[in-house]
Amino acid sequence: MGRFSGKAYLVTGAARGIGEAVVRRLASEGAAIAAADLDAAGLETLAVDLTAQGSRIVTAALDTRDSAATDAFVTRAISELGRLDGAVPCAGVARSARAEEMSDAAFEDVLGINLTAVFYTCRAVGRVLLAQGAGAIVNLASITSKGGQPGRANYAASKWGLVGLTKTLAVEWGHRGVRVNAVAPNGVDTPMIRDGIPPDFLEGVMLDRTPLGRLAKPEEIAAVIAFLLSDEAAYVNGAVVEVDGGVTAGFMTHQHGAAFGAKSIPPKN
Ligand SMILES: NC(=O)c1ccc[n+]([C@@H]2O[C@H](COP(=O)([O-])OP(=O)(O)OC[C@H]3O[C@@H](n4cnc5c(N)ncnc54)[C@H](O)[C@@H]3O)[C@@H](O)[C@H]2O)c1
Repeated sequence: MGRFSGKAYLVTGAARGIGEAVVRRLASEGAAIAAADLDAAGLETLAVDLTAQGSRIVTAALDTRDSAATDAFVTRAISELGRLDGAVPCAGVARSARAEEMSDAAFEDVLGINLTAVFYTCRAVGRVLLAQGAGAIVNLASITSKGGQPGRANYAASKWGLVGLTKTLAVEWGHRGVRVNAVAPNGVDTPMIRDGIPPDFLEGVMLDRTPLGRLAKPEEIAAVIAFLLSDEAAYVNGAVVEVDGGVTAGFMTHQHGAAFGAKSIPPKN
């Protein structure tokens, strides 16, 4: 028996990274899973593994930008799992470029997957949750939804938009029993960050400015998402929870926050 025994959750971007960690965490606490991703082979590996561990899982290889496919998967998930209690739309992409050189496709793809498609997932699952008067959704924002980042005009616009979407759904749906929150991670050790961030920026800027001095593990993000989905977070709605190793707690901060203090401001007395 676990916190999610008898419940079922739909997770997109489930084949790897944070989505996979969310699936494994929820399943380990008793949930049945509806998992979607573009990567059919990755989903198959996940399904074989979870089924061997005694979990129930249905999968769909789909593009989350296809709202009809998303709606159809929600219908199939209900039919095969018997219910849905929430969603974690993790499917996301980063395509960095200087703004003046960014192509139409790079901007539109990132907005389409990180924002519009998340709306489609929230809408499809939200209809089910509203009809039953209960459920929870957790979206994947980012520290990039707290400020700007060079080379990420598309990504930042998508994540700021996602915060607006999350808060609006929280306000629209909260009084009907459906909570909607987001987490805002800093760097998480997944293929997205390893493939998408130059190593010198990762070591020289991101990790240097992060008080905990390391990337998050996907499981550490999944743990907070599981809390937000659970009844323990029953009064949390419309929140954007920083899971960022302290990076947004500071500014003018480097060397894990130690360097400024090391200048030894003379004691006053
Ligand atoms: N990794 C980080 O440092 C970090 C930090 C903050 C926020 N996030 C956010 O967390 C989410 C997950 O990131 P991740 O690091 O696990 O990424 P990842 O690249 O490791 O995994 C993303 C998954 O989404 C799938 N996907 C991409 N586009 C899709 C589409 N159109 N339809 C269906 N599936 C699709 C991919 O196939 C992949 O399996 C994203 O929204 C990302 O922006 C990540």
